[in-house]
Amino acid sequence: MRGMIREQEIIKEYEENGKVQEVYLDNSATTRPYDEVAEYMNYINKFIYGNPSSLHKKGIEAEKMMKKARQSIADTLGASPKEIFFTSGGTESNNLAIIGYLRANPRKGKHVITSKIEHPSVLEVFKFLEENGYNVDYIDVDKNGIIDLEMLKKKISKETALISIMYVNNEIGSIQPIDEIVKIRNTCNKETVFHVDGVQAFGKFKINPAKSGIDLLTISSHKIHGPKGVGALYVNEKVRIKPIIFGGGQETLIRSGTENLAGICGFGLACEICNENINANWSKVLEINKYFRNKLKENIKDIIIISPEDASPYILNVSFKNIKGEVLLHHLEEKEIYISTGSACSSRKSKRSHVLQAMGLSGDIIDGSVRFSFSEINTLEEIDYTVDALKEIIPKIRFK
Ligand SMILES: Cc1ncc(COP(=O)(O)O)c(C=O)c1O
Repeated sequence: MRGMIREQEIIKEYEENGKVQEVYLDNSATTRPYDEVAEYMNYINKFIYGNPSSLHKKGIEAEKMMKKARQSIADTLGASPKEIFFTSGGTESNNLAIIGYLRANPRKGKHVITSKIEHPSVLEVFKFLEENGYNVDYIDVDKNGIIDLEMLKKKISKETALISIMYVNNEIGSIQPIDEIVKIRNTCNKETVFHVDGVQAFGKFKINPAKSGIDLLTISSHKIHGPKGVGALYVNEKVRIKPIIFGGGQETLIRSGTENLAGICGFGLACEICNENINANWSKVLEINKYFRNKLKENIKDIIIISPEDASPYILNVSFKNIKGEVLLHHLEEKEIYISTGSACSSRKSKRSHVLQAMGLSGDIIDGSVRFSFSEINTLEEIDYTVDALKEIIPKIRFK
C-alpha cells in the first residue's frame, strides 16, 4: 500500500539509529505528492502533451484524460462532471465562487456574509467587495473557533446574496456546523447562495455538496497529495456564475486559459487515491493526533492545546508558554522537523493570526503558537522523534 514503503523505512531507521530522516508535519500548508501522482504526471507531460482544445488526435487524447479527471472529482463529490470547473487552486476557486456569483446575479442583493476566521483568499475578496459597494458582515467565532449561529441568523436578510463559510479552519482545524448553517439559510432566506471553502476538508471526509445544501464548493489539489497550482470549483447546476478571467472560453466559458493538463490529471488521481482510503486515513491521523496530544501533555510543561478536541485530526495548534513560535519552528527545522507558525500564507508575515485573535486569545498565547499538521504518511515514530526534540529544545528557548 502507498506510503507503506516510506513508513517501513522510517520505522527501521528509528529502531536502528533512534532517529528519523525528515519529519514533515506541515501538511496543511501543502502535501508531498503521492508517488503514483508524480509518475502519472510525468507520463502525461511526456506523452499527452496536446492542447485539449485542439481538434486533432493529440487534442482529443488530452481532452479524454481531462474528462477522466473531471469524472473522478465529480464522483468523489457525488456531483455531475458539468458541475466541476478546473482552476489554478483554492485561491482562484474562492475568488471565482464569490465574485463570479455576484457578477452573474447583481439583483440578488448587496449584502454578503462571511466569518472572521476565513482564509485570506476569502477575506481579501470581501474587503474588495466592501470597497465596491457591498455591505459585509463578518460573523464572530467562539473560543473553539466555531461561528456564532445566533449572529448569523440575525444577519441574514432579504438583501443577502451570498454566505461564504469555510468547512475546516486551516490554522486550528475547527469544523463548522455546515448542516446548521444550511438550515438557518433555508429558514431566513432560501435565495441566499452558500459558498464553502472546503480546501482543508476535501479528501479528509466525504462531502456531498448537493445533499448538504452547499451551492459552491472550493477544493484544492495540493492539500491531498496532488500537485500544486490546480484546484476546482463545484457549482451546483442550478447556480449561475460568470467568469473572472477572460479569454478563449475554456471550461465552458467559465475559466479561460489552456488547461494545466498534467496538474488536472494528477489532481484526479490524488482524488481517487484519497477517496479509496478516506476512512482509514482519518482513523490513522486521528490516532497520530491523539498520541501526539497525550505525549505533549505528559512531557512538556506549560502548553495550551488550542485546537479543540473535536477539530479535524489533521491539524493541531499548540501554544508553548514563553516561547516565540517562530524561534521554535527554526530549532525544529535544524532537526529536520517541519511545522508552521500559522497558515502558510500568513506565516511569512509577522502579523498575529487573525484566527487566534478572533477566538479571543491573548497576544502571548498567539505568539507562542505553532501548527502541526498531519497526513496518513506520518508515523507514531515521527511523533516520538518530534516530542524528544521538543523536550530538548523548549528549556533552551523559554525566555522566562
Ligand atoms: C482554507 C484554505 N483556503 C484556501 C487556500 C488556498 O488554496 P491554494 O493554496 O490552492 O490557493 C488554503 C491554502 O492554504 C486554505 O488552507
